[in-house]
Amino acid sequence: MEKMKAIITTRYGSPEVLQIKEVEKPHPRKNEVLIQVRAIAVTSGDCRLRAFNPPNLISSIPMRLMIGIFKPRRPIQGLWLAGVIEETAESVNQFKIGQPVYARTLDLKFGANAEYVCLPENAIIGLKPGSLTFEEAVSIPFGGLSALHFLKKSNINKGDTILIYGASGSVGTSAIQLANYFGAEVTAVCSTENMEWVKKLGVDKTIDYKKEQLTNCKDRFDIVFDAVGYIDRSVVKRLLKPTGNFVSVIHSGHAQSGVKELNFLTDLVEKGQLKPVIDKCYSFEEMIEAHRYVDKGHKKGNVVIKVNEK
Ligand SMILES: NC(=O)c1ccc[n+]([C@@H]2O[C@H](COP(=O)([O-])OP(=O)(O)OC[C@H]3O[C@@H](n4cnc5c(N)ncnc54)[C@H](OP(=O)(O)O)[C@@H]3O)[C@@H](O)[C@H]2O)c1
Repeated sequence: MEKMKAIITTRYGSPEVLQIKEVEKPHPRKNEVLIQVRAIAVTSGDCRLRAFNPPNLISSIPMRLMIGIFKPRRPIQGLWLAGVIEETAESVNQFKIGQPVYARTLDLKFGANAEYVCLPENAIIGLKPGSLTFEEAVSIPFGGLSALHFLKKSNINKGDTILIYGASGSVGTSAIQLANYFGAEVTAVCSTENMEWVKKLGVDKTIDYKKEQLTNCKDRFDIVFDAVGYIDRSVVKRLLKPTGNFVSVIHSGHAQSGVKELNFLTDLVEKGQLKPVIDKCYSFEEMIEAHRYVDKGHKKGNVVIKVNEK
């Protein structure tokens, strides 16, 4: 029996619940591909899943029933990965051995936190943008697809003015770049230390949330996008034009996306209109440190784990 290393989430809790173990290497079943994982994203979503601390505990009860009441039903967690197709089931016709891809594991099954993962060929799998490394590629989709979903929900149009609150995180940095793509004029709200590098992503104006009160902002926006979930709702009303729209990563439902949206992001990357923003890269053995860092809620863009380093 072939073995692989995986990060096992033994129970819900702090990063210390993560343990490296040797487990059985998976083999592709009908319609599945086996991916050798080369990079994993450690997202705010991964940390929520590990700790099981969703923003709304009551509405999360059905979720807990599905993913495991007392401990994760699927001990290998992990949402987004980039890697190389190592094997395909005979029935697979969309992918070939050796192709570099980036992919999302299946809802409720997870499994990215390992050296290998099997996914059905119709899962959210896209060819890795050729211009990016595996680490860069895996940093794109979590924030990118979430930002795309909420920007579409906001009915963004060319010429709109948009205020992005929490502009320095994974969703925020993607929202800035995508809002630019849609032709909007971006005002970014972030802290003093993030101001300069965030501007370079394509920001027209910045507001330092540590020094300035949003209530003093004289501008009125077509869209207010809360990319971190902390904006005061009473302030939003004052910031919006009468016909303006408010979207929030916490209060506007769950982002939903598929292969079509992933390929859209790939296309933007290839055209240079969407760039990876990586704060820190860790080794597979440093998964606990990576989770500790993401838990702090102050990462700049994305955090990535390198796997099967060559
Ligand atoms: N609904 C959905 O489907 C969906 C999808 C994706 C994400 N989410 C949720 O969206 C939230 C953000 O996700 P993320 O991955 O982008 O988070 P993240 O990368 O961890 O965001 C961290 C960033 O937020 C900034 N920040 C922290 N406190 C802030 C404050 N009070 N005001 C302004 N900025 C602040 C930090 O900047 P400073 O260091 O300067 O404070 C840091 O750069 C999470 O709660 C996540 O669970 C929801």
